[in-house]
Amino acid sequence: RQLLIGGAVAGLGAAAAVGADLMMNRADAAADAAAPPMNGEQMVPFHGVHQAGIDTAAQAHGVFLGLDLHDGVEREALVRLMRILTDDAARLTQGKPALADSEPELAGAPARLTVTFGFGPGFVARAAGAAPAWLAPLPVFGIDRLQPELSDGDLLIQVAGDDPLTVAHAVRMLLKDARGFAALRWTQRGFRRAYGTERPGTTMRNLFGQVDGTANPEPGTRDFDRVVWSDDGWMAGGTGVVIRRIRMDLDKWDRLDRGGRESSVGRTLANGAPLTGSEEFDEPDFEATTSIGFPVIPAFAHIRRARGEDGERIFRRAYNYDEHPDGEGVSESGLIFVAFQADVEKQFTPMQRRLDQLDLLNEWTTPIGSAVFAVPPGCAVGGYIGETLLG
Ligand code: HEM
Repeated sequence: RQLLIGGAVAGLGAAAAVGADLMMNRADAAADAAAPPMNGEQMVPFHGVHQAGIDTAAQAHGVFLGLDLHDGVEREALVRLMRILTDDAARLTQGKPALADSEPELAGAPARLTVTFGFGPGFVARAAGAAPAWLAPLPVFGIDRLQPELSDGDLLIQVAGDDPLTVAHAVRMLLKDARGFAALRWTQRGFRRAYGTERPGTTMRNLFGQVDGTANPEPGTRDFDRVVWSDDGWMAGGTGVVIRRIRMDLDKWDRLDRGGRESSVGRTLANGAPLTGSEEFDEPDFEATTSIGFPVIPAFAHIRRARGEDGERIFRRAYNYDEHPDGEGVSESGLIFVAFQADVEKQFTPMQRRLDQLDLLNEWTTPIGSAVFAVPPGCAVGGYIGETLLG
């Protein structure tokens, strides 16, 4: 289009220029009709048996909000809070402004926005409900350097989407409606590749450059359902989430050679294949040894240590973070490690215990924040998230 208009300016008559312009408009319209919908228009259904944002293919941006309930907010107020927040989430995720939206134009591009709620121990106690046995801060691990201001909380709101402006708007609307009931304790902002950078379904990379998320149960399978969804009382159709802010020392990682980096995890950097295979999804062979008898996947390798018994599995849905560095370093980066599982105590905790005892990755990683929430099931149109506990 610009070329033609440029040609007109360079000497074509005015009528020819208008004709060329019309032709191009028709061409644009035809191209528009053939084009797939813009990603901004894509929506993830809000209502359903499970909350969205768990088995949803991970969006490019994730913001995690940990809130503390104000004193005096008890069961009845919790019902009001969750009705309001559910209404906001149901509208915003479907490209509609929230009630009394201060910037309604920002709601028009949902870009696969999801909003997912989780309840901490304090929330369930105020609701006078029966908490799942695992709903408590994790045991203390030797590797932990936890900061209280990055840990715990009564209410989790996970807001994820492929567009950062949409996500920021949703966060603001939800927080404005929550502020009469709860105060923000921590915020964690994370990212993956921008939408469209890689083919959908590509396993993400973290800031160490590793392919991260290969050995994960696959949403939509019975295996995933077994690992993730609870069938216990008001939690039926819900799940448990562990959120750990894990600092990754990129400056120290810089000093490790490629071979060392690959043995620390037991997979290659090129495509995430196990050291005993060639493709990303090849099964690791933990028995294989080198010609001089050492295990190919070392005893200290992260994947050997993380792999548990059959029941001890989790679904990881992490985001990267990258903040302003303090002191001499050039990076303050890491992983917002997010793991969903039906029973935190039976699935996550034994795994973290093993990694606490031995995992070479611990040389470069430090947990600095930690929180556990019960993620209730989804709801139908007209219902609200938390109704199985509060109703
Ligand atoms: C696998 C990185 C923390 C559990 C992996 C893999 C990488 C990785 C690169 C191999 C590819 C894959 O299957 O995803 C990291 C980094 C961490 C971290 C950089 C910290 C910053 C954790 C934590 C846990 C965990 C805290 C759980 C307590 C697992 C599990 C696997 C895994 C279960 C799959 C093991 C298998 O092959 O069965 N991780 N991880 N990771 N990680 Fe982590």
